[in-house]
Amino acid sequence: MMPPLPPSKLQFDPDGRLHHFLTIEGLKRQTLTEILDLADSFLDSEGKSIKKLPLLRGKTIVNLFFESSTRTLTTFELAALRLSADVLKINIETSSASKGESLLDMLHNLEAMQCDMFVIRHAQSGAAQFIAHHVAPHISVINAGDGRHAHPTQAMLDMLTIRRHKPNFGALKVAIVGDVLHSRVARSQIHALTTLGAAEVRVIGPKTLIPNSVQQLGVHIFHDMAEGLNGVDVVIMLRLQRERMAGALLPSEKEYFKLYGLTDEKLALAKPNAIVMHPGPINRGVEIASSVADGPQSVILEQVTNGIALRMAVMSMVLGRGPLNPTVEENS
Ligand code: CP
Repeated sequence: MMPPLPPSKLQFDPDGRLHHFLTIEGLKRQTLTEILDLADSFLDSEGKSIKKLPLLRGKTIVNLFFESSTRTLTTFELAALRLSADVLKINIETSSASKGESLLDMLHNLEAMQCDMFVIRHAQSGAAQFIAHHVAPHISVINAGDGRHAHPTQAMLDMLTIRRHKPNFGALKVAIVGDVLHSRVARSQIHALTTLGAAEVRVIGPKTLIPNSVQQLGVHIFHDMAEGLNGVDVVIMLRLQRERMAGALLPSEKEYFKLYGLTDEKLALAKPNAIVMHPGPINRGVEIASSVADGPQSVILEQVTNGIALRMAVMSMVLGRGPLNPTVEENS
């Protein structure tokens, strides 16, 4: 039997078109830029996504969320509606999964209803890739977050938000702060930032939450906020993912906030025009002070708004309404 294709290859069809969107790892800068440019074209002059386009009329998109979500689920749904697709949300709790139906049987039954795309969130790393291996060839799979592995549309909406404030990635120093160990968002952001040519990507956090292996992705590790935030253009805060922590990795939330919580005093160490980001959900007083989350440098709610246009771009590209991949090499 042939070994399964890695996700970086699996996501292209034989013509070099993006067919699934599973990970940013392995994508070329030109592909990421095309996604960002297309997303920008879906934003109006006020930065709001265009209300209705006929690009995916007649297509059926199914949201399968095995983990809870507010932002990702809702913005995928809004993006599908704004592209004129039919969109369904499967309620996993009331589906026949609760009667013992396997994931693959569920998917094959949804395929029989002539769906065109599955948007998957799952607690298991690799779940979206597994599903992409097993669905019918005409179906596209989008990873809406799998375990600790990847959250590629979140990272791309973050890149869109950064680019709209600071267009030259080559001049940017970016700090990602907090629970990198459990963060699929951080992993995808690091791949996106390094591919787009960011001048420096730093990760900051306690030793228990920063795996040494992250250095292999081309980032600099800091354990001290004052050193790590010094002179950065972008500060990305991460939530402590208690639900993924097996043991006691932290002394207390109060102690964590004292050392790593983003306050106005700590933010003053970054460049004066630095932007503050967070993928959400935010935990006020744990990783970020309310005065910063709601303050003038915060673009946290802009990230959410940009999520609609970015997801419109990815969905229209994978369903064949976007530009060709720059080279077929990525698929060879
Ligand atoms: N950022 C993010 O993935 O948020 P949700 O879990 O609410 O979708």
